[in-house]
Amino acid sequence: MTQTIKIAPSILAADFARLAEAVQSAEAAGADYIHVDVMDGHFVPNITVGLPVVQALRRITDLPLDVHLMISDPARYAPAFAEAGAGVLTVHVEATPHLHRVLQQIRALGARPGVSLNPATPPLAIGEVLNDIDLVLVMTVNPGFGGQAFIGHTLSKIARVRELLDNVGSKAELEVDGGIGPRTAERVAAAGATVLVAGEAIFGAPEGIAAALNAIRESARAGRERAKNKPPVV
Ligand code: DX5
Ligand code: ZN
Repeated sequence: MTQTIKIAPSILAADFARLAEAVQSAEAAGADYIHVDVMDGHFVPNITVGLPVVQALRRITDLPLDVHLMISDPARYAPAFAEAGAGVLTVHVEATPHLHRVLQQIRALGARPGVSLNPATPPLAIGEVLNDIDLVLVMTVNPGFGGQAFIGHTLSKIARVRELLDNVGSKAELEVDGGIGPRTAERVAAAGATVLVAGEAIFGAPEGIAAALNAIRESARAGRERAKNKPPVV
């Protein structure tokens, strides 16, 4: 596992009246993806943005759009989101009984398929699709809202997903989402995360987007170093 750490600012915490400015500042600050949280008021108890926002963002940034579908029946909308410009298109395992089918569908549409796990969902829920995904998103809060506190016990799940991926030689990215900031970045990176989503910690940072993004990246680097130097478990 040698992927560089990527940072994916979540626009949920940005000022929607100045969305283009926020996204372009994040891009200038070295963000790797732009994370877009799509919520339907059904799979999760909140409603956010949909296709028009993905289409608009596609026009104003060169960064890949990391679209996180927190919606029921994702197969129904996957083609439209792929067409709107999603680079990564992530569905929740809890949202569909036809996970394998929807992942194949996403790849056929030209987007990179991702799969997400809620905090209470065990890692083995993705055991049969490990070779069909480009990204696993481990939720480190319950999905639905930005600005929530990181759930500590998700660290061991991140480590178990890391093992699952490494055991099959998968190059899929391991993304974490919810309550990530300079303090938690160290721990999730040490557990094996490679893509860190952050909303409040970036767009709500008093020190500004660039300083916040750099602080998260530095903390993640330190976590990865710590994990590398750790003596093997015997
Ligand atoms: C939560 C969303 C997250 C959220 C993260 O359901 O999936 O992407 O925006 O926000 P922070 O980083 O503020 O916890
Ligand atoms: Zn998200």
